[in-house]
Amino acid sequence: MDSINGLLGKSEQLSFIKVITFGTFDVFHVGHLNILERAAAMGNLIVGVSSDDLSFQKKGRYPVYNQNDRMRIVAALSCVEGVFLEQSLELKGDYIRNYAADILVMGDDWKGKFDNFSNTCKVVYLPRTPSISTTKIIEIVKSI
Ligand code: CTP
Repeated sequence: MDSINGLLGKSEQLSFIKVITFGTFDVFHVGHLNILERAAAMGNLIVGVSSDDLSFQKKGRYPVYNQNDRMRIVAALSCVEGVFLEQSLELKGDYIRNYAADILVMGDDWKGKFDNFSNTCKVVYLPRTPSISTTKIIEIVKSI
């Protein structure tokens, strides 16, 4: 494999590597963009966008933007290869295996929570972008 990779450019080498990440990505902001760009720098990125109901389960409120709009926004990014709807946290292992992901990327707010998948793929937690979140943006807008 090394000798084959030695003949290829960096982007061609990365095309062998499949990266998967998950999130709600509501009220899309630069923290979302940063983690998606950093994940995509590791390989071909596919994103599981949490359904409205799953987001409610995780966060205790429904997203501002519905799941179709959130999927369209994430899918339109040049760093994203594809999107799918994440409907259950229990299916995470199935999503990872179905895509045959080599790397699972999550923000470090999830640190340690997905270590059980390290038998299936490499698990990488990236630091969150400081001082921004969807919750914070909603609070700021409400206060204006
Ligand atoms: N994320 C990040 N930096 C931020 C905010 C989010 O890296 N400042 C990452 C999260 O760690 C996650 C992905 O973006 O991997 C999607 O996060 P999501 O929960 O949709 O965004 P938040 O802004 O954290 O949403 P909320 O405030 O509703 O929890």
